[in-house]
Amino acid sequence: MKKILITGASGFIGSFLVNEALMQEFDVYAGIRESSNLKYLKNAGIKFFKTKLEDKNTIKKDLKKSGRFDYIIHNAGLTKTCNKSMFEMVNYEFTKNLIEALYETEMIPDKFIFISSLAAFGPGKKNSQTPIKETDTPKPVSLYGKSKLKAELYIKSLNNFPYLIFRPTGVYGPREKDYFVMYKSIKSGMETYIGTKNQYLSFIYIKDLTRVIFDAIKSNIIQKSYFISDLNIYTASEFNKILKTVLNKKTICIVFPKLLIRIIAFFNEKISCKIFHNIPTLNTEKYKEISQVNWACDSTSLIRDFGFKPEFDLEKGINETIKWYIKENLL
Ligand SMILES: NC(=O)c1ccc[n+]([C@@H]2O[C@H](COP(=O)([O-])OP(=O)(O)OC[C@H]3O[C@@H](n4cnc5c(N)ncnc54)[C@H](OP(=O)(O)O)[C@@H]3O)[C@@H](O)[C@H]2O)c1
Repeated sequence: MKKILITGASGFIGSFLVNEALMQEFDVYAGIRESSNLKYLKNAGIKFFKTKLEDKNTIKKDLKKSGRFDYIIHNAGLTKTCNKSMFEMVNYEFTKNLIEALYETEMIPDKFIFISSLAAFGPGKKNSQTPIKETDTPKPVSLYGKSKLKAELYIKSLNNFPYLIFRPTGVYGPREKDYFVMYKSIKSGMETYIGTKNQYLSFIYIKDLTRVIFDAIKSNIIQKSYFISDLNIYTASEFNKILKTVLNKKTICIVFPKLLIRIIAFFNEKISCKIFHNIPTLNTEKYKEISQVNWACDSTSLIRDFGFKPEFDLEKGINETIKWYIKENLL
């Protein structure tokens, strides 16, 4: 039985990666921290690797206790925060700590999967649907994207390190919390847009994402990077149309000028961080991303290397997602 560590196991993507690993009969270690919520990690087959990614010596001590992992999916990451310096700290420094601990304990796995993000490359050309390609020069627009890119460059600089880098586009599905805001908006009868230009978007359903990651783990490919999407390009209005159909809702269409969204994001963040110590979904860093018009990406190398064939397009994935939110009494 191959031994796998999945960091950030308590989060949305991490908990699905853990499920997939269990289904595929790996010896599964869920990487968590002291404060992690274990709501989605109840399966009795899960072993836990509790560590402090901020402290290399603690990681080394914990690695010596657990023994070497055949595979590591380093999925822990920070996507939003009130303290902006934490982006670089968590997404870059913690990744470096983990890898240095692996080197210093001589426990380099057969494969180290780094979950980066399309945000590390930044958006594609304006006024075009031309997808972002692996050969493009990365130009991240947010601190989140910059921190992921820095981690990627560090990983690629290592000698003979058996990495694979995955850059998912927007991931959606059950348990997800950010797109959920859009579902609630449509449910309340409001269909919102940022600016008048059509936005080109890409998506990946959580189950297709986890499946292709495990196909990649089982392949003999290393030292390559991939964008992950369902291979389609959608417009923002197509996304809303699917939501309206699935939720069977009529809506009022509201087009917010970009400047207004920027101002709302600013005050939203200020108030929420100051009073509730909680970063809202619409914040100043997120604004830098959602105000871009082209988030299409080229994931065709997944077909070539792993025979990737997504099972879910946006309509099928949203149908399944909304059924889950309704079952959980969230919608
Ligand atoms: N969701 C997307 O659309 C998307 C797209 C592209 C890439 N990604 C990447 O995918 C990964 C997972 O994202 P997600 O959407 O599943 O987010 P999530 O639900 O917020 O999960 C993040 C995970 O990272 C852990 N984490 C955060 N800060 C940490 C810290 N300081 N120390 C240790 N662990 C920490 C969290 O642990 P706690 O539960 O203890 O907080 C949680 O398990 C991230 O690396 C993210 O950048 C996500």
